[in-house]
Order: sequence, then C-alpha cells, then structure tokens
Amino acid sequence: MNAGTERLQQIIDDSRRIVFFGGAGVSTESGLKDFRSSDGLYAEKFKYPPEYMLSADCFYRHTADFFDFYRQKLLVDGIKPNAAHYKVAEMEQKGRLIAVITQNIDGLHQAAGSKTVYELHGSVLRNYCTKCGAFYDEKFIKDNRPIPLCPKCGGTVKPDVVLYGENLDENVLAGAVRALRNADTLIVAGTSLQVYPAAGLIDYFRGDNLVVINRDPVSVGGALFLQGKVGEILSKIAIK
Ligand code: APR
Ligand code: ZN
Repeated sequence: MNAGTERLQQIIDDSRRIVFFGGAGVSTESGLKDFRSSDGLYAEKFKYPPEYMLSADCFYRHTADFFDFYRQKLLVDGIKPNAAHYKVAEMEQKGRLIAVITQNIDGLHQAAGSKTVYELHGSVLRNYCTKCGAFYDEKFIKDNRPIPLCPKCGGTVKPDVVLYGENLDENVLAGAVRALRNADTLIVAGTSLQVYPAAGLIDYFRGDNLVVINRDPVSVGGALFLQGKVGEILSKIAIK
C-alpha cells in the first residue's frame, strides 16, 4: 500500500459521514466509456457534435437521431457494478458513508447495494411518456424503435436523463447539498469536474478531508489526490 492509499485508509477509518461524489470514470471499469478521456465518447464522430446529441434540442428536433445515439452509446447491455461501486456500498452498510452523489445515469451504485444515491443527471432505468407521464423501463426504450411511443396515448417516451439545456431536479440538488454540508469526508472520483452545476456542488463541502481519485490529473485545492483507477484503489481499502 503506498503513502496515498495508507492516508486514504486512515481517513476512512476516522470518518463517519463520507460523501462519495462520482462521475463517468467510476463506471469505466464496468465497461462503459467516459466522455472526455482520449478514448471517451466525445472522441468519436457522430451525425452532430456529441454534446448536441445529448441535448434537449436534439431530443425534440432530431428524435430518431437522439434515440439512435442514446441506444448505441448509453444503453449498454450487461454492465455490472465494479469494485468501486461495491466498496462505496460497503462504506454505507458499515455506517461510514451518508450519501453517493453521482453524475452517472447507469444505476450501478444502486445495483451494488447503495441506498442513498443522488442521481444529478437522472437514470436510464426510468423513462416517462412526455404526454401522459406513464412510466416505462429501459427495455421498452430498447425494443420500441426508432422512436418509443406510449401505447396508452401515443406520446413520445423520454428517458429520465438531464439533457443539455435542461435543469437538474430541485429535490435531488437539495439532497446532495444537504449531504455535502453534513459530510466529514468528501471523496471525488472519476470526474473531470467540467460540467456545471454538478461540478460546483463540491464547494458546499466544509468537512475535514477532501480526497480526489482520478485516472488523469484533476486539480482540486486542498485535496489528497490519488492518481489511478478508482476500482483498483478502493479495492485496497478495508472498511472496518
Ligand atoms: N478511475 C478513475 N478515474 C477514471 C477512470 C477510472 N477507472 N476512468 C476514467 N477516469 C477519469 C478520467 O481521467 C476523466 O478525468 O474520469 C474522468 C471522467 O471525466 P468525464 O469523461 O468528463 O466524465 P464526467 O466528469 O462524469 O462528465 C460529467 O458530462 O457529458 C456530461 O452528463 C455527462 O455526467 C456527464 C458530465
Ligand atoms: Zn402516454
């Protein structure tokens, strides 16, 4: 165990109110691509620029193109939680962690057993009819091509995912801010911290220990920075 991991072990041993703030890098070890790494989604070529593909404007004006991109790139079959998700769930089960705040929409934290999860950008597991509000699961979106229409009213079914140009859910934001204000330790992992308002939330943290775990360098003032894969690093940590 190197000095950084030893320090992390000590911090976790001493913490009772950890918040884990994660991004796409937490799910790459489950086989999902992140966005801004050199091998990330945004390095690929699409009909429109990738950030437009994930915008509300694209959803409403180029609906078939949106769903084509969404199914190909965001609805990946057979993904499972990795060591990072399981270790974070264990921190909660053993009374060390009070909340997960994630920018991811893959539902992997809950699949690993985490209970208090604030999904800032929503989830692919929830889909609602834009006309009557009826709920549909991920399989409905996969099976009903090119555009999933509500069998009840004919409305277009939309993933419960925050698209560019849309606001984050007020209640999710309020819960995340409450957790950050109450945390004694904040672990930020697998995120380039480039997308707001999500990235700005970490400014609400006032606790003792700020830890950043990331494969590429990311600068957060006053943080213990561990460079590497979050799944690998957390698998070295014992939750006592
Ligand atoms: N372990 C640790 N860090 C990793 C790993 C890993 N296994 N894999 C990738 N990373 C790091 C990369 O080095 C990168 O800095 O995770 C970071 C991922 O950054 P982004 O791709 O920008 O993803 P994220 O920060 O989650 O993006 C935020 O942007 O497009 C929107 O809505 C989308 O939620 C997303 C938001
Ligand atoms: Zn409907």
